[in-house]
Amino acid sequence: MRKCRVGLIGAGGVAQRHARVLSGFDDVELVGVTDVAPEAASALVARYGGRVHADVAALLAADPDAVYVCVPPFAHGPAEEAVIDAGVPMFVEKPVAVDLVTAERIAALVARRGLRTAVGHHWRYLGVLDQARELLAGRPVRMVSGVWLDKVPPVSWWPVRDRSGGPVVEQAAHVLDLIRVLAGEVTEVTAYGNGTPPPVDGADIDSVTTAALRFADGAVGTLSAACVLGWKHRAGLEILADGLALSLTEDGLTIRDADGERHVPADPEAARVAVDRAFVDAVRGVGDDVRVPYAEALGTQRLALAVADSARTGTTVRLTAPDAPALLTSGVTVDA
Ligand SMILES: NC(=O)c1ccc[n+]([C@@H]2O[C@H](COP(=O)([O-])OP(=O)(O)OC[C@H]3O[C@@H](n4cnc5c(N)ncnc54)[C@H](O)[C@@H]3O)[C@@H](O)[C@H]2O)c1
Repeated sequence: MRKCRVGLIGAGGVAQRHARVLSGFDDVELVGVTDVAPEAASALVARYGGRVHADVAALLAADPDAVYVCVPPFAHGPAEEAVIDAGVPMFVEKPVAVDLVTAERIAALVARRGLRTAVGHHWRYLGVLDQARELLAGRPVRMVSGVWLDKVPPVSWWPVRDRSGGPVVEQAAHVLDLIRVLAGEVTEVTAYGNGTPPPVDGADIDSVTTAALRFADGAVGTLSAACVLGWKHRAGLEILADGLALSLTEDGLTIRDADGERHVPADPEAARVAVDRAFVDAVRGVGDDVRVPYAEALGTQRLALAVADSARTGTTVRLTAPDAPALLTSGVTVDA
């Protein structure tokens, strides 16, 4: 069996996770890694194999079958452009960029090239998500409440708005992505930031953000993100439909209905493996279970940035369909 030869751009925390998962697949070979911090690439290679390459061009010259782009939010753009140019299937970590302009430019290039892509929204592979969808089939969602209540992660770029996009874009994107799956598209966002950064050096983000959301199908909801704790407290969402309450986290689904309450555990590690397995299978042409290609992640990026922009500008942001004219009455408009 010919192995799928994978290259990595970025060798930090999440790249190490992908390297660990991929090295457990017997049909994958890690062929190369590049990082602007060569010592990070060397450390990854020492553990998982492959070669260190000086830059993205050198990595692509090694002719990988697929490339993972695992750089921080602010660094997206040039790496993807080079990979698309080379016509190599590409897995991009979320968030796909720190802004919308970059994400839309890359999405257009991907579409023009017809490139196979996947984005690291691995929550889509939680087994309980299908169960939640089945329970909601035929029952309109009335209310959604998403939360990501956490600490400041220990990477220097994280508390800086123009490096990470802030907690809503960088972390709560996982929850916003599932909100879109279970409750449909958001049409209007009014968000507030508390104007107080977390107490870490160089921070300029709000330490708490809360948003009110209006959905196309009539539901209303909220999204709250906080990084004021010393631990990851809770990340997930509550969904209410008539006579049904669902509470979904990476660890499981709690269902409450007329029959009482029951809990179905989930396996977050299995979801992290499944997102890589699906991409590799798609690249090898033996599977078709990529749940979040780049174009789909763009919808989540637009929603996350709508929340962040509303909090930053103090205005309501309305999201329009991609081909609808942006003729809206007030606030900032983000094409959706
Ligand atoms: N899907 C998930 O569950 C998950 C989990 C963790 C992180 N992430 C995402 O992955 C991204 C990276 O997070 P991380 O924790 O690995 O960060 P990190 O800071 O640990 O690693 C990022 C690495 O990218 C390198 N880098 C920066 N610019 C580069 C460039 N232009 N070219 C090559 N390398 C470059 C850095 O030197 C660093 O080694 C973030 O967007 C984060 O949100 C996703």
